[in-house]
Amino acid sequence: MNKLILAAIPAAAFTGYAVYENAASLSLRYESLGSGVRIAHISDLHRRRFGRNNRRITSLIASEKPDLIFITGDIISRRQTRLNTVEKMLRELVKIAPVYVIFGNHEQGLTEEFINAEVQERLIEIIKLSGAKLLRNSRDFIIIGERRLNIIGYEPDYSVYKSDGCYTDLTPVTKADIVDVLGECPKGETLLLAHNPLFGKAYAEWGADYTFSGHVHGGIVRIFGKGILSPERKFLPKYTKGVYDFGGKKLLVSAGLGKLRLFNPPEIVIYDI
Ligand SMILES: [Fe+2]
Repeated sequence: MNKLILAAIPAAAFTGYAVYENAASLSLRYESLGSGVRIAHISDLHRRRFGRNNRRITSLIASEKPDLIFITGDIISRRQTRLNTVEKMLRELVKIAPVYVIFGNHEQGLTEEFINAEVQERLIEIIKLSGAKLLRNSRDFIIIGERRLNIIGYEPDYSVYKSDGCYTDLTPVTKADIVDVLGECPKGETLLLAHNPLFGKAYAEWGADYTFSGHVHGGIVRIFGKGILSPERKFLPKYTKGVYDFGGKKLLVSAGLGKLRLFNPPEIVIYDI
């Protein structure tokens, strides 16, 4: 009987922690890479909600006073049809700072997998009406203080994520592929938003000074600082969470906010660059 009780205590603690992490926790991660520009980065919200209209996210970001807010894809899940919460969150975020959004595989999948083109159209409209900027292989620039920042959103071919509905024989991305859709990297400081961090080296070779990514959800389960599984069902993916350096160019990977996770709390990342 005592042995049973002794075994039940850690099992209950583990379950309690897992429930807390997936239902209540929300962390801020700070990365200091320079100074002068502060960026709040969120990714992979999927269906998760953090308080009414995601108020916990918007108020935490507001308290950090960012100059820019980046949303690097999968703000929704591909089977989702209700977009009210996303709409209200975007309307709050644009009051804080300019917001830039790219599509992840879930938003692309709405049309690529013929799931719901109408939802994608509505999402595009919601982003536009909110005042946020959606970058689909397109660019913008912004001047903050003395700095002129190129902000570019990269959307790869969907075969990077799925090939004939499977996760095998996926298309890689090279520098030449990026040049094909975006042209040469512009002169000056360039911030690239690219959902999939797997091609971090190619983004750096193209010339992005900072690339903001998500997609891998921190590797779903994290043990000893390593993410275990990728969305493509690969073990120990390379880039899951944190700052990765490619000869001075940085790949910045958010572990994201949504989906089931373990020892891998949902996060908002604040960068000073
Ligand atoms: Fe994704």
